[in-house]
Amino acid sequence: APVRRLDYRPPAYLVESVDLTFELDPARTRVTARTVLLPQRTDGEAEPLRLDGRDLALESVRLNGRELGPGDYTLGADALVLPPQAGRTVLDVVTVVEPKANTALTGLYASGGTLLTQCEPEGFRRITYYPDRPDVLAVYTCRLVADEEEFPVLLSNGDRRDSGRLPDGRHWVTWADPHPKPSYLFALVAGRLGHIEDSYRTRSGRDVQVRVYAREGALPRCAHALGAAKRAMAWDEERFGLEYDLDTYTLVGVDDFNMGAMENKGLNIFNSLYLEADPETATDDDFAAVDTVVAHEYFHNWTGNRVTCRDMFQLSLKEGLAVYRDERFSGDLRGPGVQRVRDVRALRERQFAEDAGPQAHPVRPDEYQEISNFYTWTVYKKGSEVIRMLHTLFGEEGFRRGLRLYVSRHDGQAATCDQFVAAMAEANGADLTQFMRWYGQAGTPVLDVEPVYDAAARTYTLVVRQSCPPTPKQPAKEPLHVPLAVALLDPDGRRVPLRLTHEDAPSGTERVLELRQPVTTFTFADVPARPVPSLLRGFSAPVRMRMPLTSEERILLAAHDDDPFVRWESLHGYLTELLLGRYRAGDAEPAPLPPALTDALARLLRPEEPEPALAALMLELPGFDTLFGALDEVDPVRLAEVLRATREELARTLYEPLLECHRRLDDGRPYVFDAERSGRRALKNGCLSYLAELDTPEVAALLHRQYERADNMTDRLAALTALADRGDGDGVLEEFGRRWREHPLVLDKWFTVHARSRRPDALARVRRLMDHPVFSETNPNRVGALIIAFCFENPLRFHAADGSGYAFAAEQILRLDAVNPAVAARLAGCFNSWPSLDPSRRETVLRTLQVIEGSEGLSPETSEIVGNASVA
Ligand code: ARG
Ligand code: ZN
Repeated sequence: APVRRLDYRPPAYLVESVDLTFELDPARTRVTARTVLLPQRTDGEAEPLRLDGRDLALESVRLNGRELGPGDYTLGADALVLPPQAGRTVLDVVTVVEPKANTALTGLYASGGTLLTQCEPEGFRRITYYPDRPDVLAVYTCRLVADEEEFPVLLSNGDRRDSGRLPDGRHWVTWADPHPKPSYLFALVAGRLGHIEDSYRTRSGRDVQVRVYAREGALPRCAHALGAAKRAMAWDEERFGLEYDLDTYTLVGVDDFNMGAMENKGLNIFNSLYLEADPETATDDDFAAVDTVVAHEYFHNWTGNRVTCRDMFQLSLKEGLAVYRDERFSGDLRGPGVQRVRDVRALRERQFAEDAGPQAHPVRPDEYQEISNFYTWTVYKKGSEVIRMLHTLFGEEGFRRGLRLYVSRHDGQAATCDQFVAAMAEANGADLTQFMRWYGQAGTPVLDVEPVYDAAARTYTLVVRQSCPPTPKQPAKEPLHVPLAVALLDPDGRRVPLRLTHEDAPSGTERVLELRQPVTTFTFADVPARPVPSLLRGFSAPVRMRMPLTSEERILLAAHDDDPFVRWESLHGYLTELLLGRYRAGDAEPAPLPPALTDALARLLRPEEPEPALAALMLELPGFDTLFGALDEVDPVRLAEVLRATREELARTLYEPLLECHRRLDDGRPYVFDAERSGRRALKNGCLSYLAELDTPEVAALLHRQYERADNMTDRLAALTALADRGDGDGVLEEFGRRWREHPLVLDKWFTVHARSRRPDALARVRRLMDHPVFSETNPNRVGALIIAFCFENPLRFHAADGSGYAFAAEQILRLDAVNPAVAARLAGCFNSWPSLDPSRRETVLRTLQVIEGSEGLSPETSEIVGNASVA
């Protein structure tokens, strides 16, 4: 039965303290837990003491010092239940777990020779019996005992207290975390690791040791992450006055990890993909991702840890907020406009698809089967957009005030989304009752905008209608409170002063209009000529906006608007319609590309273009998923072909400017990762990617030269990717595989290049690569780079008409489900788009889903995803 948000009840017992002892051994680790519990119900009957536990071998239980026998408790598959306790209760539980056999990577597990934990959301119950829910906050100590040779480094939360040696050659370390925390923030790491370190002095004068731990061989690649940690610490002090609160801040990178990273108190653990970066092995995007993920985990220290979630339905309280904060941080590093466009693009490709599919759910879900399936684009990215709208409504100062009130009011507590919004409302004297619907309503709202210019009255009117399509279990929607940022441009692209008809004087040239009703009308006065509307500036709300714009207006906005999002969106919208038109036209010979469009694209390639990073984004065609989302009964193979053919045509039309731009930006300067240089490389490699569509000797020479001469992974991988679809790419592919065969994170890029390849034998090659010595079905990064990449990022081959792609996915989902359900469930999402496919593929997918659903022993994770998909 699903867990429901409205069934929430406060815990029957709180925990005062937890003292843990781990006798670490990869095969069998013994965990001794002393938990001091306090019953909460004073109203009549005390309740049974129920402790969560999964897949544990229970060795012993003592209650207030007395050893219990099997008759004294009930031991179920997911709980240990003791009789009701009236007063302060001391429980000593000894359990045994098997880290090495734990391939699900939740609870205590092994990654290479390192032992570590992942407890969010429900991993702690795989370590010991405990009330494993986020509203039970306790103070922890942790004593780690292990062989000194094998596990010289022993880490846990908080600050290190004490250490020593045992006569049998083992050593031990004790850690103490003074801040009360929920069990999902507990962590330990034990292994043969090296570290690099630096110190950071907080504003109020605390000296913090900042350390990054990793395998010895990876340490030279960890300097960027260490710098990112310090940058994030400084940023949070400057922006929000939030300081670090322990004497050590430890980051650890491991190779086997289900997600990106984890914010355990004082001991953040990272997928090594988001911790390691150097110019030879990492691309500009990898460097930027390290900045973002390190900052994200650091920011959780206040928004997530000091203030945590009351229950897992409130997940976006910490995740949406941490994402919002990491996006702002990254914007300050990279340039806010470019960062914004990248974030919006990701949201629209992934989250909009989620909202439109069988797994659609609100930012604060109402029910779940398996909480680990709810670490979604909606909870994270749409959650961030909801926070961002508050910033748009209240401005920087008002937002800061609200955040400070929220943090100070709920410090040390487990809070709810309502409490966060209440603090924002109170700090700004605003009524956010209607705004709360953003948390409860799933689906992507639509704004239909109808502009009317009245030349005689010199007025310009915008009629805005809002609606939201039905989603599973939510057939009807209420109107939302939507901030709509607008400006009006004159024919030269300059902003005009804005005055609504009921106002006395114009105020500013950019305004945030607020929608609350299904239909809202705004009339601007003193508008001398028909303006060009610049709407939803900065993507001020996570909506689809439909608005009749002429091609000329789009080109003007793309060239002259000072809002980077609107510039990008105007061209993107133009290209989207062009591509959709070509797809709908079927086999008819496509009309040639409009010169106004190709001129606009050519302008992006000129030296005068101020921001190459933005130009690079504007140059890219809309992605497959964006186009797919706008169509019904799609033949994905034909859609992929429309995209390819249009790229080729653009490359032919813009051949000289593309070559010229590439030549100009290929300046031979040594690699440095910063905003300016990575922007130039993005544009250069955007040109290269178009050029690779053409088969001229000049292009072939250019590609091979860039591959051979690159002093960095960004340029090398760009050349490799461009070559991979071509007949002359095989030698280079082989060379890359040989050169990096000792380096799994780089080999992942190579796996993905194969997985995404348009070549007809792509699936056969993916299957062959599954036998590669570096591939491993137990490592989520390897599976992601090869299998998941094929199913999600190679529409042409995944949707092959013969059903081979679907059959492959089904086979892998079932195989992986026995290894790691979280990974299998993620892969199972590849079928979420089936309702938009053409009838014959729809039928094949449905049959495939039924086969998966009917298989024996399917995990709850995968069965929830497949079950939702097959009833859509
Ligand atoms: N809280 C982590 C973050 O920073 C995500 C961890 C989720 N882990 C999981 N097994 N679902 O986003
Ligand atoms: Zn997070």
